[in-house]
Amino acid sequence: MSIYGDYIKSVIRTVPDWPQPGVNFRDITPLLQNSAAFRKLIDSFVHRYQEMDLDAIAAIDARGFIIGAPLAYELGCSFVPVRKKGKLPFKTISETYTLEYGQAEVELHSDAFKQGDRILIVDDLIATGGTMLAAAKLITRSGGQVVETATIVDLPDLGGSARIREAGYSVFAVCS
Ligand code: HPA
Repeated sequence: MSIYGDYIKSVIRTVPDWPQPGVNFRDITPLLQNSAAFRKLIDSFVHRYQEMDLDAIAAIDARGFIIGAPLAYELGCSFVPVRKKGKLPFKTISETYTLEYGQAEVELHSDAFKQGDRILIVDDLIATGGTMLAAAKLITRSGGQVVETATIVDLPDLGGSARIREAGYSVFAVCS
């Protein structure tokens, strides 16, 4: 939890029964609409990572891009998109993971970073952790060093952050 965690949590909206009955969807759009809140959010990440000597921010398609881009800009490191299958035009490497129903795949350009580069992975939310873990494995396989995985919201009851930590990666969440 970060210094602004309680405040950031207060500007995230819960939408009941979306996208299906029984799901409480954590909607970050009120946070993005609120310029003071969005600034505090990005500042929370900048504060945590400014002394960590990162080479790249790997941001997960699509809401990870919203925080990944200003963070890369502010920290002066490169921005690497981790995309859903079929979106990247150049040579890619991919990692398949299991969803509740079926499978999904994340992709990375083969020249996205250099061997040994220090990389932070960002996404908006960790639920079951499948996407974040697939991204971390993909970056590790490609020779990157995953310094940490970071998110705005962790939903600990869904076990994703625990799974990511069990796989040996560090997890930072602004709020839970
Ligand atoms: N919000 C946003 N994305 C999600 C959620 C949520 O509550 N659960 C799984 N993915």
